[in-house]
Amino acid sequence: SLFPVILAGGKGERFWPLSRQDRPKQFLSLDGSSRSLLQATADRLLEIVGSWKSLWVITSSQIAEGVGQQLPELPSQNLLIESQGRDTAAAVAWASLEIEKRYGEDAIIGFFPSDHWIADKEAFANTLSAATQLAASTEAIVTLGIKPTFPSTGYGYIEQGEKIGSFNDLPAYHVNRFTEKPNRETAEAFLSTGRFSWNSGMFVFRAGVVLKELHTHAPEIIEPLEQHGPDIYPQLPKKSIDYALMEKTTLAHVLPVEFGWDDLGDWNAIERLLKQEDNPNVELATHVGLDTRGAIVYATNPEDVIVTIGLEDVVIVRDRNVTLIVNKDRTQEIKLVLKTLQGDP
Ligand code: GDD
Ligand code: MG
Repeated sequence: SLFPVILAGGKGERFWPLSRQDRPKQFLSLDGSSRSLLQATADRLLEIVGSWKSLWVITSSQIAEGVGQQLPELPSQNLLIESQGRDTAAAVAWASLEIEKRYGEDAIIGFFPSDHWIADKEAFANTLSAATQLAASTEAIVTLGIKPTFPSTGYGYIEQGEKIGSFNDLPAYHVNRFTEKPNRETAEAFLSTGRFSWNSGMFVFRAGVVLKELHTHAPEIIEPLEQHGPDIYPQLPKKSIDYALMEKTTLAHVLPVEFGWDDLGDWNAIERLLKQEDNPNVELATHVGLDTRGAIVYATNPEDVIVTIGLEDVVIVRDRNVTLIVNKDRTQEIKLVLKTLQGDP
């Protein structure tokens, strides 16, 4: 059986000012549903594993209390709290050590980002069951591959190798090469071969397999954790699992994803999810737009009225004391602005 771990320590800065230090992206509902991204992730996984006892969450101390409030049924011994975020390699290493301690080296662990949108829950469950079978029967680090639609530089790329079998009617392939966040040129070259998929950021493997691979490829993270426990966290290098392990391991496998997936990375994702054909803009506010096209308009307070005249392809967000107006193709730079603002106004 599968022990899913939700990675919930990110900040989601590109959704500022809706995401703030005390209210990161995973606490928000971005698609208009009543459940936050974190809650929706837990709902999907619970449906599959059947009990809160099997579900784990790893997050940072700043937002741990909020995570507890959002998921009141999560057993406290399944909530791992990082004294400070050291990116996902440390999170995967620590959570895998804890699960191995409790359930042994054959326990199957899955890691799941808390910032994804998934359309077809049944197909998602079917894919996870295939991934679990693959991880149980071979020494595999299982990734889920998304069919790429444009040369994104924000994803990991997986080059498909030899087919090794089928699980739940899904073909499984060995991975020839994993490349995290390539530059534009490389991404275009990858796409033109037709052999690459995007990495969805979800991983499934046996506890013993991932710990062995971390010993080989990321001893600087796993060894201090084993020797000193999580007290050593502040001294661990800040690295993502994609760079620390996925680009190096020879055990990577990939299953195709067929459930409809989106990474809710920035405001443009809202447009992909909520755009309606008969509306030139995406309006999550009372918006009066004269000659306005391609705008994404959001206000937290339903009494706020946003008026635009003669604008095109902009994002306008009003939340509490902040108004953000940004060109749609420059939303990545919100991160930079936050660095220059004193703290998080
Ligand atoms: N516990 C914990 N601690 N969680 C973290 C930390 C941390 O220090 N840093 C990030 N996370 C969580 C985030 O909240 C998110 O749910 C998940 O880990 C992935 O982190 P991101 O920062 O969102 O990664 P990314 O989107 O740049 O890249 C990853 O996901 C892509 C798909 O969405 C990579 O795996 C890419 O290869 C992949 O394509
Ligand atoms: Mg992400």
